[in-house]
Amino acid sequence: MKLVKTIVEVREQVKQWKKEGFTIGFVPTMGYLHEGHGSLIKKARENNDKVVVSIFVNPMQFGPSEDLESYPRDIEKDSKYVEELGGHLIFNPEPEEMYDDGFCSYVDMSVLTEELCGLSRPTHFRGVCTVVNKLFNIVQPNNAYFGEKDAQQLAIIKRMVKDLNMDLQIVGCPIVREEDGLAKSSRNTYLSEEERKAALVLSKSLKIGKELLESGCKDAGKVRDAIVEYIEKEPLARIDYVKVVNALTMQQVQDIKGEVLVAMAVYIGNTRLIDNFMY
Ligand code: PAJ
Repeated sequence: MKLVKTIVEVREQVKQWKKEGFTIGFVPTMGYLHEGHGSLIKKARENNDKVVVSIFVNPMQFGPSEDLESYPRDIEKDSKYVEELGGHLIFNPEPEEMYDDGFCSYVDMSVLTEELCGLSRPTHFRGVCTVVNKLFNIVQPNNAYFGEKDAQQLAIIKRMVKDLNMDLQIVGCPIVREEDGLAKSSRNTYLSEEERKAALVLSKSLKIGKELLESGCKDAGKVRDAIVEYIEKEPLARIDYVKVVNALTMQQVQDIKGEVLVAMAVYIGNTRLIDNFMY
């Protein structure tokens, strides 16, 4: 397993692999890896000859008052983990390698970015689409792996690849959870012991929403209200949003028909957590 910090080194390695006829699976991450990331790396390993993992805390996708500075980082632990899982190359650039002084090109998407996390984080998906586009151009993978944990991000990346005719497949992977149901996240490390317990309201309230849908409820408002009511009982929780949207367009629905995404962002103390399910 190799760790490189420059675009030139990635390109050289990828060129060599392609010459030898190898397929390339790519897992973009911001590091501080956990089993959620691990599941993507494993999947990439299963279906490709070579696996590239990028570890880059992308400044462009953080808003001015967000946690860019405090975002957890541990490249040594991450490298060991990727090696254990059989990854072949880590790309770990400095921000200057990705964005030089004159940088001024962006990938902006409408519609899908205007709901859910895009409403509360207005420049977030511009940062995500731009960096993912750059990473795809650098790594030139056959397949790239994204988690359903960030369901809106996954839908946006799929749309971007389709709209801009990018020559690769996007593979979605299921949410990996802690034993008690909390979705694994690098940001869970911010939680105090008391907050960690309170954070269970996300997965527990989603379960209530899912049960309502399974019992035949077709009213998105009712599903949403039941979820909100449950979360509001937890004093440490503050809702950013709870919404039922069309799974492809991310637009809110009133009646449940076709595939829907039930998604939420909830602050537990100062930590903003997200969770969701598809139905
Ligand atoms: P990051 O939050 O590090 O996540 C990297 C990938 O891991 C994403 O595709 C995310 O959905 C997936 N992931 C995280 N937690 C997961 C879990 N519990 N189960 C399954 N998959 C999980 O998402 C980003 O980084 C960035 O926005 C990035 C795409 C790298 C662009 O900067």
